Amino acid sequence: MAASKMILVLQLTIGLSFAFGIDCSAYTCKTPDQVWYPNQCGFNNNITNTYYVQPCQDSSLECYPDQQHSTSYQFNYTCQETYVPPVNSYPGEWCKTDDDCAPGLSLTCQNGICVGVSNGEYCSWSEQCNPGLRCTNNTCIPQLQIGESGCTWDYDCVNNAACNIISYSNPSQNTCYGFHSFKVHDEVGECYSGFHTLCQYYYCAQNSDGKSYCTDLFYTLQGPGSQCDVNGRGCYSNKDSFFTPPYSIEGECDCGLNSEGNSYCEVLPGDAPNQQWLNIFNEWVNSPELLNCNTVKRFDSNCVQTYWSSKQYNAFVYYNLQSSLYNRLVGIEDCVLNAFAENYVQARNAFNNSNVEAVAF
Ligand SMILES: *[C@@H]1O[C@H](CO)[C@@H](O)[C@H](O)[C@H]1NC(C)=O
Ligand SMILES: *[C@@H]1O[C@H](CO)[C@@H](O)[C@H](O)[C@H]1NC(C)=O
Ligand SMILES: *[C@@H]1O[C@H](CO)[C@@H](O)[C@H](O)[C@H]1NC(C)=O
Ligand SMILES: *[C@@H]1O[C@H](CO)[C@@H](O)[C@H](O)[C@H]1NC(C)=O
Repeated sequence: MAASKMILVLQLTIGLSFAFGIDCSAYTCKTPDQVWYPNQCGFNNNITNTYYVQPCQDSSLECYPDQQHSTSYQFNYTCQETYVPPVNSYPGEWCKTDDDCAPGLSLTCQNGICVGVSNGEYCSWSEQCNPGLRCTNNTCIPQLQIGESGCTWDYDCVNNAACNIISYSNPSQNTCYGFHSFKVHDEVGECYSGFHTLCQYYYCAQNSDGKSYCTDLFYTLQGPGSQCDVNGRGCYSNKDSFFTPPYSIEGECDCGLNSEGNSYCEVLPGDAPNQQWLNIFNEWVNSPELLNCNTVKRFDSNCVQTYWSSKQYNAFVYYNLQSSLYNRLVGIEDCVLNAFAENYVQARNAFNNSNVEAVAF
């Protein structure tokens, strides 16, 4: 799993399938001979496994699945009022009223910021604690600084640090280190799921000596956005020969939104389409603003929005989507982009507009 996937999960309007096997749908524009009901924006032909789409004309409407016009084998899409999810802010994040703060955590909105539980007071979850604090033994207490021991997970450490887990049973052996501060082939503690927030290049692996180490930077051997093989595989990375045997990873293969029904490899951290995202993500990690966020929400775009300029925030959201959706958007037709990837289009427009303004003033 690439760093891009871990941070933000912004959804496309439609569900997307992983390509196992592999039978991806095709996505293309409505043809003139199709007669649709009013406000219809999509239709699937279950025989050819093709989705036909037409973007909504009215910009206040978005293309959503329509239960009333669908059956178990026939899905239709209708232009509907844009759904604006409620604000769901955590301690340290913006609000206008108490209702904007995440429900069930007893947060209040004070001077435009959600306020939670203070140092030394009772808590059930770290999400309740004010910035700078974590919930341990049902009490909000200060996060551990870099170099301090006793962490059991990353959220026990200050926002720009992560926990090197040597022992789950004896936390005194675990120490907080700067995020991504372990260099290539540095030894690291528990390498859970092959991914480590302490590793400069995100991945870790166990070597033949039984110890875990941070890996080289991985990129997709066939190049970013390359097509997967017929079995939905083939998204292999370069090999890291430090390990015995040499270690590599296999990226995910995802169905795209193209008219051929092709599937493509996700971008890995070392691939070019990921660079702008990693740059701005690292900028956030190294920024003083990060420290204003709740420990669990340290990388949440809502906290970024609270403390960064709209220009920086727009870049953060856009670059995240650009890298995480890269393989889904290879070869996409404009009609499909506008109908089924509205979030991406909006993020791109916001990003472009804030850059234009920056030049103009
Ligand atoms: C889906 O849309 C097509 C074209 O408008 C229509 O003929 C069909 O009846 C719709 N299907 C359902 C289940 O409503
Ligand atoms: C495809 O749709 C038709 C109706 O348009 C239905 O009778 C048929 O069972 C569907 N086939 C599959 C494989 O879902
Ligand atoms: C939490 O409680 C456990 C068990 O009583 C104790 O070992 C640990 O030191 C406590 N942690 C903190 C940070 O006080
Ligand atoms: C946004 O800017 C990029 C890069 O300058 C450009 O390729 C793209 O067409 C622009 N998109 C829109 C919707 O203006």
